[in-house]
Amino acid sequence: MQKVLVLDFGAQYAQLIARRVRDLNVYSELVPCDITAQQVAAAKPDALILSGGPASVYAPDAPKMDPAIFELGIPVLGFCYGQQIMAVTLGGRVDHTDKGEYGPAALTVVEQGSALFAETPVKQTVWMSHRDSVVEVPEGFVVSAITDTCSVAAMECPERRLYATQFHPEVHHTEFGNDMLANFLFDVCGLVRDWDPAGFVDLAIAAIRNQVGTDRVIVGLSGGVDSTVVAELCARAIGKQLTCVFVNHGLLRKDEPEGVEAIFGGRDDVNFVHVHAQDRFAAKLAEVTDPEQKRRIIGSEFWKVFFEEAQRVGGVKYLAQGTIYPDIIESGSRKTGGKGSTIKSHHNLIPFPEGVSFDLIEPLDRLFKDEVRALGVALGLPDSLVYRQPFPGPGLAVRIIGAVTQEKLAILKEADAIVREELDAYNNAVFERTGVHGGEGSVWQYFAVLPDIRSVGVMGDERTYARPIILRAVESQDAMTADWARLPYEVLARISSRIVAEVPGVNRVAYDITSKPPATIEWE
Ligand code: XMP
Repeated sequence: MQKVLVLDFGAQYAQLIARRVRDLNVYSELVPCDITAQQVAAAKPDALILSGGPASVYAPDAPKMDPAIFELGIPVLGFCYGQQIMAVTLGGRVDHTDKGEYGPAALTVVEQGSALFAETPVKQTVWMSHRDSVVEVPEGFVVSAITDTCSVAAMECPERRLYATQFHPEVHHTEFGNDMLANFLFDVCGLVRDWDPAGFVDLAIAAIRNQVGTDRVIVGLSGGVDSTVVAELCARAIGKQLTCVFVNHGLLRKDEPEGVEAIFGGRDDVNFVHVHAQDRFAAKLAEVTDPEQKRRIIGSEFWKVFFEEAQRVGGVKYLAQGTIYPDIIESGSRKTGGKGSTIKSHHNLIPFPEGVSFDLIEPLDRLFKDEVRALGVALGLPDSLVYRQPFPGPGLAVRIIGAVTQEKLAILKEADAIVREELDAYNNAVFERTGVHGGEGSVWQYFAVLPDIRSVGVMGDERTYARPIILRAVESQDAMTADWARLPYEVLARISSRIVAEVPGVNRVAYDITSKPPATIEWE
């Protein structure tokens, strides 16, 4: 299998470069920038990409690279800092310029025959983010593109297959960035498309076997796609050395615990434990109304139950987790190649208890969410799980305003099931139309919220004094910002009448028409 190594010079989104390469069906992974030429040669990559980075090349602590890497005869493409380090290492010059360039820039391709820019327009928009610039290219190089403020927006030495750009082809704002990457991989390096998520399954299984040897592994199942994919990979890699623990806190949505059972229960090839901890969580949450306190209780109780189970299993050396790359960016706690012991999402403030330690297995820590979904498909997991919308770790507890009771949980689960049924159908219709999961016009996240109030209504001849349900449905890319979904009236009407007719104890439905900011997606 071909392989492209991305040398990470500290760009926040260096992983995005590897991802773009994988999107072009060529396997790629990140390595630290101080990798030696010998190590590179041993890894036998077909191409190298040098990422951007925040440093100034001449700064005393600026990341350097082993100059001998350029002597290996492997094609190299550098972006931003990657261009500057290439220039300086090979005898060119970089200067601090008066004026930095941030955001879109108008690029002019000046080297007409450049393989990098083949079949892209002479004038195009690219994304710049730099202060320093290459002012003198190394011997043997030519300038291949410029902007008004950047005299070396791209440079190349085709004989040695060395290419570099000051701008960032990996970001979507660079109009033809993907074409440039494809030109480099397929035309300059002569690679072919030989990788897909199924290939990753084999790689991950081999890596897990290698790491684990004959030791025991435990994995916590949450009902979500990340932990399920990790559990399935481990199951295939090490079989009975794995114990999957599903802590059922009673705060999952309707039918979700059954979904977990359907995948892992009754299998001969793995150990599966369903911990029925509903009563334990209910007791801890009784009369707790503060949202943060609820989260803390659920987080710490989850780990208590989980560690008790781990102790029962005994002799467990590894904890497998569904940490994905965006979790690492968010926690900001890890560098490429180094492994900290961050615990995911709502658990991440809870340290291992005294005397407990596990090594971590995190097979997804380089992948983005949609890549994990593709893996889920390759592993044959059901669509309902693979395309499951985001769901908070503390579950329905943060969708019940005020104290959590069994009565409120029962109402919310039923109402939420109707919301999901109707909006799943709505999204499926979008999928039919566009052929893309989450395609234009689909709703990103949707659920019911149960506020702590009652209001008057009339059903039949009876006056009611019952609960309202709040419908929340948002469009978003990444949950950082969101807008309320402009759902058709007939969809809203159907959801409303079904909830009131089918869920005892509810007599009213309201639709939350607030964006994020100023609101958040969840109510607590
Ligand atoms: P907010 O409510 O902050 O939520 O707009 C942003 C996204 O994060 C999800 N969310 C959580 N996910 N643990 C999680 O794993 C949590 O504690 C948690 N709280 C919110 C939320 O559903 C939305 O997609």
